[in-house]
Amino acid sequence: MKVLRTETPALFETAVEEAARFLKAGDVVAVPTETVYGLAANALDAAAVRKIFEVKGRPAHNPLIVHVASLEMARRCVGEWPERANELAKQHWPGALTLVLPRSAIIPDEVTAGGATVAVRWPSHPFMQAVIQRCGFPLAAPSANRSNQLSPTNAQHVVTALGDRVPLVIDGGQCQVGIESTVFDVLDNRVLRPGIIPLTGGDAGGPSGGALKSPGMLEKHYSPKARLLISKWNSPGEARAIAEAAGFELKKTRVIAHEKIPGDPDFGAVSVIPEDPEAYARALYAELHRADEASAELILVERPPEGPMWEGIHDRLRRAAN
Ligand code: TXA
Ligand code: MG
Repeated sequence: MKVLRTETPALFETAVEEAARFLKAGDVVAVPTETVYGLAANALDAAAVRKIFEVKGRPAHNPLIVHVASLEMARRCVGEWPERANELAKQHWPGALTLVLPRSAIIPDEVTAGGATVAVRWPSHPFMQAVIQRCGFPLAAPSANRSNQLSPTNAQHVVTALGDRVPLVIDGGQCQVGIESTVFDVLDNRVLRPGIIPLTGGDAGGPSGGALKSPGMLEKHYSPKARLLISKWNSPGEARAIAEAAGFELKKTRVIAHEKIPGDPDFGAVSVIPEDPEAYARALYAELHRADEASAELILVERPPEGPMWEGIHDRLRRAAN
């Protein structure tokens, strides 16, 4: 497996050229996006898309997001482009919003898991934009981790998770958003997966109301290896008591706090994430990956604040706690 860096214009250009060469040949490439790293393949090539499922160990019934680099390309992937889609795209694209719409005939069944809809997103990451433009076709890409594991937010996470299962990894630095995109079903007017872009559906049901429409949301997801507990405490002594009552050794416990920082030297580690939803999202997965690397047994998370911007974070923490 080869890792290509992108931090100078010359390296960036070589990486775009090389990634496009692999993608045009029907191979998969791990690529940076502003949300999390993706495992990309030509979205119009069924055989290439099947490789994504193999590399991830992903069940075939879980559809993929199609990444585009223009409105025009998005519209070629969908069978219908309602005014609401236009408004949302104008407001949030390029960015961390995925729109679910009726599919067009150019999208293979492998991408949609045989369904009648397709998920499309125009990412803002400059590498993604450049490589999609160079290819001239859209890229199907799930997060670049093995199925049910944590999403990667830097190239090292990808290398650790996928290793030689991918021929090429593009290092585009740390993901600036840090959690997966908001997935919004346009015709149904509902949020299927909350993210950093806060949207509310007309039924105000949000992700938990009514029947689950996003197959991926059925799976245990976004999980670190350690047990994760979300709680509140007023003193270091209380935080300590919570870990001990749950049956964990303090030195195998890592704390993630934003307000009441327990300065107890017996904890394996105490990480502070700022009480700001964007900064929190950016840091969260890196903290969970660090806990895995340190073979932590318990991650004790101070319950974050509520509010629309925090919904995606609560959603990921709930899944990680499962
Ligand atoms: O930020 C992101 O969305 C990242 C980057 C790489 O773009 N991608 C990502 O992909 O998180 P993935 O495959 O890990 O999650 C995609 C989610 C899954 O829950 C999937 O079930 C849902 O989107 N999805 C995809 N197509 C869908 C469709 N047609 N209808 C409903 N849900 C869909
Ligand atoms: Mg994923």
